[in-house]
Amino acid sequence: MSDVKSKTGKEWFYSERVKDHFFNPRNILKTKEEAKKYSKAADGEGEVGSPACGDVMKVWIKVKDNKIKDCKYQTFGCASAIAATSMFSTMVIGLKIEDALKITAKDITEQLGGLPARKFHCSVLADQAFKKAVKDYRKTQ
Ligand code: FES
Repeated sequence: MSDVKSKTGKEWFYSERVKDHFFNPRNILKTKEEAKKYSKAADGEGEVGSPACGDVMKVWIKVKDNKIKDCKYQTFGCASAIAATSMFSTMVIGLKIEDALKITAKDITEQLGGLPARKFHCSVLADQAFKKAVKDYRKTQ
């Protein structure tokens, strides 16, 4: 079953897990108000833009006893970026910071059952924004 046609007319195939995380994103902050409220209670925040497409990802973390207690985000990105960040957030919550930092874009993509090659850069956004959020958190320690 084909999903979406790219600008070149080629079809992109999305796994069931990508679709699930896109249509039911976990840990997403849907509104500006939600993000504003959450950011006040967060321990760190990180933002990255994608040079490949100009999209923006913002991630917030809460930390307790050196573990990621919570991870939420907002994105002005595509379906792949939403699915990848949703998956990433479920992977890091509960992990020690050091272990969460080891998760790569490739790990996220594998957990999603793959992404179209042209969409791989979208999965890097979560990973990079998270690293910045950890850096931000560490500044206050
Ligand atoms: Fe920009 Fe996916 S195309 S984040």
